[in-house]
Order: sequence, then C-alpha cells, then structure tokens
Amino acid sequence: MYKISIIVAIANNNAIGFKNNLLTNLPNDLKWFKQNTLNKTIIMGRKTFESLPNGALPKRKNIVLTTNTNFIAENCIIVNKIDDIWQHLDNQSENFIIGGSEIYKQFINQAKKLYITRIYGDFNADVFFPEINFNNWDLKEKIENKTDEKHKYDYDFFIYERT
Ligand SMILES: NC(=O)c1ccc[n+]([C@@H]2O[C@H](COP(=O)([O-])OP(=O)(O)OC[C@H]3O[C@@H](n4cnc5c(N)ncnc54)[C@H](OP(=O)(O)O)[C@@H]3O)[C@@H](O)[C@H]2O)c1
Repeated sequence: MYKISIIVAIANNNAIGFKNNLLTNLPNDLKWFKQNTLNKTIIMGRKTFESLPNGALPKRKNIVLTTNTNFIAENCIIVNKIDDIWQHLDNQSENFIIGGSEIYKQFINQAKKLYITRIYGDFNADVFFPEINFNNWDLKEKIENKTDEKHKYDYDFFIYERT
C-alpha cells in the first residue's frame, strides 16, 4: 500500500487560497513544508503548479494532474487521469498531496497522515479544505508558533494519523 499524506495550510473557515495564490506569507511554514516534503514525491493540481513562482519544486518528484493531454512542464510527471497516478508513487516512503482544493478532495479518503498548519487569521478566499472528521484522526504532534516580525499571524503545526 502506498503511504499518502496531505500537507496543507488552513486558515479560519477552512480557507486555503485566493486568486490562485496562498493566503499569506509565513516563511516558517514554507520551511516546514520543505523539511517534510524534501526527497519525497509530491502530487498537485495544474492550478497549484501554475501558482509556483519557479515551476517544479527541486529535490522532489513532482507529479501534476491535468486533463490537458498536451500539458508540458519541466521536471514534472504529467498525469491525465487519477487512476494513472499510482504507478508513479513511491512504495517505500510518503507521497505528499500538496493541493489545491480539488486535489485534496479527491485524496482525503486515501490519506493516512495529515500535516496541517493552522493559520489563525480571517482571509478573503475562493478555495477551501474539505471538512475534516476528527473522529477519524489521532493527533500525534503539535508545534505552536506565535506571531513575530516575519509572521503576521499565530500558526501551529499539527500532524494527525488516521485512527
Ligand atoms: N493553503 C495551502 O496549503 C495550499 C496548497 C496548495 C494550493 N493552495 C491554493 O489552492 C488554490 C488552487 O486550488 P484549486 O482547487 O483551484 O486547483 P488545483 O487543485 O491546484 O488544480 C485543479 C486542476 O487540477 C486538474 N485536475 C483535478 N482533478 C483532476 C483529475 N482527477 N484528473 C486530471 N486532472 C485533474 C485540473 O486541471 P486542468 O484544468 O488543466 O484539467 C484542474 O483544473 C490556489 O489558490 C493555491 O494557492 C493552497
């Protein structure tokens, strides 16, 4: 069985993005994301891929889902059907679903681990994380972080495993 993990930063009201961008810049969250996903396989939707400032994320196997059979992206594996994704996954290590909302919705039931950054702020948003039933998830780790000159909001890192 493949290990599917989800990594996401969620603000108040389950908001995760606006106008194909993240809601706020939290440098320590980007570090957390990098630390957890480095040397792993990452899976994203075409819109999230297009939101990345420099294309494919280095030192990771980047998989991009799109229905466009002509889509080309440097250093990425392009997959047109969700059922074709499994052959590209790592069967030894974690495979990270990195968004956006369409992709999270399609993988939440397969995920065994959730890496959630909670951002304690209200934002205008047009994409949201699906409702999580926390009866199905055990909290394994919580790291609290307070606002500072580089971080406008309090934010905590949580790791959950499926019960
Ligand atoms: N807060 C966070 O942690 C976080 C993380 C990632 C992204 N985001 C935000 O989320 C937003 C983007 O999310 P989104 O929901 O709009 O888009 P998305 O999930 O990134 O990408 C959606 C696209 O993926 C492709 N796709 C989806 N399901 C597919 C399937 N089953 N088979 C083939 N292709 C499929 C389609 O591409 P085609 O249209 O090309 O067919 C679809 O338009 C942005 O605002 C981004 O900043 C936030």
